[in-house]
Amino acid sequence: MKVLGIESTAHTFGVGIACDEEPYILSNVKDTFVPKEGGMKPGEVARHHSEVAPDIVVDALSKAGVTISSVDGIAISLGPGLGPVLRVGATVARALALKYRKPLIPVNHGIGHIEIGRLTTESNDPLILYLSGGNTIITVLRERRYRILGETLDIALGNMIDVFVREVGLAPPYVKAGKHMIDVCAEKGSELVELPYVVKGQDMSFSGLLTAALRATKNHNLNDVCFSLREIAFDMLIEASERALSLTGKREILVVGGVAASQSLKEKLDVLSEERDVILKIVSPEFAGDNGAMIAYAGLLLLKHGVRINIEESYVRPRWRIEEVDIPWS
Ligand code: FE2
Repeated sequence: MKVLGIESTAHTFGVGIACDEEPYILSNVKDTFVPKEGGMKPGEVARHHSEVAPDIVVDALSKAGVTISSVDGIAISLGPGLGPVLRVGATVARALALKYRKPLIPVNHGIGHIEIGRLTTESNDPLILYLSGGNTIITVLRERRYRILGETLDIALGNMIDVFVREVGLAPPYVKAGKHMIDVCAEKGSELVELPYVVKGQDMSFSGLLTAALRATKNHNLNDVCFSLREIAFDMLIEASERALSLTGKREILVVGGVAASQSLKEKLDVLSEERDVILKIVSPEFAGDNGAMIAYAGLLLLKHGVRINIEESYVRPRWRIEEVDIPWS
């Protein structure tokens, strides 16, 4: 069985092909919109996606060495994400499903991140940290659902860091030579500036930290503020994760999502996993950021369990949470 998956929830338009036997991922092609200045404007991103979509679909099929008529389903990430951007991918997916008479499979973007992480790291019943631009979630799979044990109470960790580097003039681009600008800046800092640290149980709050860090740049060295912001934000996440480990007794941590590529976070997680004697697994950079392969693979799992959606019901779901999705393969 083979599934073509389309990712179009935020700045990346991606198409991947997954199959149900090794090597599982046959292709993974993407194009990411980078704004010249400022943050993402949904209209601009949607225009970018509609321009690149045809070439990305063709490229993904040719790299996988399959024809569209030989795939068994079209998977689409219907949410969560930005409405106008989600609609581009959904329109492409619906058109392909209709023209080639294939089942359309609704995939939650977060479930895509988690399942590609479980597949590629061969993880076994882990505590999952889903960390991306839009999400900061601590979760475990239990009784057919990803149960959320902790999350951000306001903005996501990745978004907070992106906004900070942008506001102080370090970005875009947010990543240079594989390194996030917060790391480039933080590596030159050493003094800890006092900033708010907010953990409530297993939940975290980053908005006060962002405001205070921006204010602190007026009377502290910028490198020291970068260093302090990163240390405090990651320490908050480590504290919440440690509590979730104690609560669940899990022996493995799996990190998925774009922030999983952070080397400095890995160093802190290495210490945590050593102290708690648990195995640490981090999704590889290819599958950390948004990509079509993760949607294809989650779509494949869903299709195998009979999940599909009628075209006329395939609305985009900008606020679709992972715990709303039934996970029949658990
Ligand atoms: Fe994502």
